[in-house]
Formats: sequence, structure tokens, C-alpha cells
Amino acid sequence: MIETIQWTDDGVVMIDQTRLPNEEVYVTCRNYHEVADAIRDMIIRGAPAIGVAAAMGVAIGVAQASSENLDSQVEAISKELAGTRPTAVNLFWAIDRMNRVYGSVRHLPFDEIRTRLVDEAKLVRVEDIEINMSLGRHGAALVPDGKTVLTHCNAGALATAGYGTALGVIRAAIESGKKIDVFADETRPFLQGARLTVWELQHDGIETTLITDNMAGHFLRSGRIGCVVVGADRIAANGDVANKIGTYSVAVLAKENNVPFYVAAPISTLDLTLATGDLIPIEERAASEVTQVFGVQVAPKNTAVRNPAFDVTPNRYVTAIITERGVARGPYEESLRALAAQ
Ligand code: MRU
Repeated sequence: MIETIQWTDDGVVMIDQTRLPNEEVYVTCRNYHEVADAIRDMIIRGAPAIGVAAAMGVAIGVAQASSENLDSQVEAISKELAGTRPTAVNLFWAIDRMNRVYGSVRHLPFDEIRTRLVDEAKLVRVEDIEINMSLGRHGAALVPDGKTVLTHCNAGALATAGYGTALGVIRAAIESGKKIDVFADETRPFLQGARLTVWELQHDGIETTLITDNMAGHFLRSGRIGCVVVGADRIAANGDVANKIGTYSVAVLAKENNVPFYVAAPISTLDLTLATGDLIPIEERAASEVTQVFGVQVAPKNTAVRNPAFDVTPNRYVTAIITERGVARGPYEESLRALAAQ
């Protein structure tokens, strides 16, 4: 099994996702500043994995705090972690969860507070794997047997504590006996598809074909693709889905070709405080990710660049949203609220 993130006596250990697939290197974050840097620098990425990292960041921050003015230290730790990346709501969900636990134990002896927060962060990790397995089981039934599944970015074990959301659905479909293979969009500019999805599916012996992003329409039209399954960074109350840039184009092309477009995400990715996807903050990343391909300049110097890391797919393109509590279909205002309330 791929170990994305772990709590150890030395610190928070993460597989360095900026170095994959060429090198399998593990980074140890020894304090909460290093955890925040790891999230910002994409050493760890993917909404649920960012959530686990943030929970462990709060835990290591409190474990190393002094016993005086603990409230203000927890606030400072939370603020620094919350400032790392704006789109994946799991980051804020995890920080809130840790703050709620802190609120319920802050009257206890300091050692006890530390233990409780470390235990909670470990629990967030373990629960994430269980959630993905159950989400996978719900989704497996939707995957057509004998066809190809198209996915975008990496919503796999590497984007979570393990097993994955979209790739969890694929894993569960294969475990249930279905004969499927995967087409992975390379996912410019950061190449999560080429570098991470292909690496982790090969690791599990799942037949995978890499395509560039602009080939998706061609293959969706060919009849070969049985369904699209992607993850999500934040899902608004109406079912609009923020996910890796390029997801929207794939969704439109899927609908045009009558191919089901599924989003696999845990309940912690729902943001029912936002009525529509237009309100989701979209991270803009460095221009160099577009002008360069891993350090090699591919555009003239001083080229004007836009680099939104995510886009929003309107709910009308989403065939269903697969969660650990079941599958939601439109109208999503009702179905998502019902699942969230369970
Ligand atoms: O910028 P990233 O690599 O953090 O973006 C990741 C994605 O967009 C994933 O599809 C999403 O977080 C779901 S991960 C299960």
C-alpha cells in the first residue's frame, strides 16, 4: 500500500509528490511551519490528503507548544495552516475539527491536551482510508464492465491518506471483478495525471494509458470510454464541483458524447455554506508552472500567463456525486443536504 502521510515520533512523514515518479523520497516535517510549507509547495496535495496534513500540522504544533497562552498559539497555528491553499475545503474542515477537539479538552492538563490532539489527527488519517473504501464500494456499481474509465488529475491514494476517491472507485470496481482499464489525462501544468496517477496505478498493476489533456474529446467520442470519474476540491450546495483545472472541459465533452461523468468525494469536501460554485475561491499559482515544464523554459520570457489551479464544473454536467454515504443525483440541493445530515 502507498503511504502518503504518517504520524511518527520524528514528525509528519510524507511521500514527496514533487519528486515522483522518478524518485520515491520521503520528507519529515518536524514542526507545523514545515507542514504548512509542504502543503503550499505541493509535497502533499489532493484535497483529503491536505486535510490530513493540516490535522497533523495542528497536532504537531500543539505537541511542541508551551503551556502558556495555548489558545493564542492554537489560533496562530491554525491561521498559518489555513493560509496555505484556498480551494480544497478539506483543509478548513480539518482545522475546524482539530479546533473543536481542542475546545473540548482545553481545560484538561497540558499533556492530556497534546495526547488528545495527536490521537485526533491520527484518527482523521485512518478514517479517510475507511471513507475512501466505502465510497469506492458505492461507486464500483456505476462503472461499466469491459470499458475504459477516464480520469483527470490524481484523485488516488496519493491525494488521500490511502486508496483514493476517483481511483478508489476504480480499485473497488476491479476488486469486484470488473474488467476495466484507465485513461489518465496528463493534467497540465503540474502533470498530476502523468506523474502521479500513472505511477500509482502501475504500482497496483492496473492497466493505464496516458493521454494529453487535449486528447480527451477524441477518446470520449470514440465510444471506448464507459465513464469519467474525477475527484473534487470543493462541492457547493447546488452540486457545482471545483476540481483540477481542465475538469470542466472533460465534463462538457462527456455530456456531448453521452458518457456519464461521476465525481467521487468524501462528505468533508461538501461546502453547503456556498450556494453555488461561483463562490468557490480559485487558487492562482505561479506563472512558471505554465512557462516552464519542470525547469525547462517553453515560452518566451515575460509571457503574460494565467494559471488558475482549479475550475468549476456546473452541476448540469455531473451525472452523480459518489460519497461514503451513498450516491447523490440531481437536484443536488436536496440530495447533498440529505447525505450531509445522515
Ligand atoms: O492541486 P492539487 O494537486 O492539490 O489538485 C488535486 C485535485 O484537483 C484532485 O482532483 C482533488 O483534490 C481530489 S483528490 C481526492
